[in-house]
Amino acid sequence: MSDNIIIRAKDVQKTYNTGKVIVKALRGLDLEVQQGEMVAIMGPSGCGKTTLLNSLSGLDAIDEGVIEIDGRNLAKMSDKERTAYRAANMGFVFQFYNLLPVLTAAENVEMPLLLDYKRRLKPKDARKMAVEALAAVGLADQIDQRPTELSGGQQQRVTIARALVNKPAIVWADEPTGDLDSTTSQEIMDLMRRLNRENGQTFVIVTHSLEIGEQCDRIVWMKDGVVVKDQQTQSAAAPVNGHSNGHTNGNGHTNGHSKNLAINESPVPDLQTISVN
Ligand SMILES: Nc1ncnc2c1ncn2[C@@H]1O[C@H](COP(=O)(O)OP(=O)(O)OP(=O)(O)O)[C@@H](O)[C@H]1O
Ligand SMILES: [Mg+2]
Repeated sequence: MSDNIIIRAKDVQKTYNTGKVIVKALRGLDLEVQQGEMVAIMGPSGCGKTTLLNSLSGLDAIDEGVIEIDGRNLAKMSDKERTAYRAANMGFVFQFYNLLPVLTAAENVEMPLLLDYKRRLKPKDARKMAVEALAAVGLADQIDQRPTELSGGQQQRVTIARALVNKPAIVWADEPTGDLDSTTSQEIMDLMRRLNRENGQTFVIVTHSLEIGEQCDRIVWMKDGVVVKDQQTQSAAAPVNGHSNGHTNGNGHTNGHSKNLAINESPVPDLQTISVN
């Protein structure tokens, strides 16, 4: 491939039919994301953000259009292949953590490693990787604690460790800071931004927070199931190919850029518009 596009969605349509109502959640959506980019998806409640994330990651089937991840069409894989592909190449971070309550932090984090049946990791090696991932998010001392024994921010850090344990190419996050106070929310964002910069992993983050969106490289605005605006932020200054050493913010504190933005004033900030669909 001549470009670095890792996510390509073309004319994606998805309709929910509950028997009582038919909802056109995605109505011909186009999106391309470069490898190593950190992209925020924003827009009003019900505009299709979660549906888009679930469709791109292959969790949900679409009705029309094409989605390619790193040039591969997940819709053409068998369920088993798709599950293994996801476990090997994708990480998921959701608002309500989705941790299994009966498992310890380390056991939760090693789950995707054990799901990746093609890799056949020994349990001992899986545990070692899980412990390293937990240490990387600052939870070296909490590996044996269960979710109920952790704070909200710590639980979210466990999900981030789980999402990143096998260094997936893409991390999908659906309102990852939605349930956290602003300080913890910023810590989680700093952590994701640092991992994005250091590992060159692609992040797609659904958020209602402009402050979070502004710290991504790009904000994709959705409305009624399509992209209505696609903007590069000031945080996008660093190269996005993941191989650069040009980390403008090596310490992960990228939030300095968003200081001037009033979070509640305008639904669409006055940023450099790179394309409008
Ligand atoms: N499983 C489902 N069955 C029927 N309709 C659904 C289903 N999931 C979502 N929808 C509908 O599809 C539309 C898009 O929903 P989606 O969850 O993608 O929105 P969203 O942008 O993520 O909203 P929010 O910001 O509130 O999370 C909404 O009208 C919603 O009611
Ligand atoms: Mg949603």
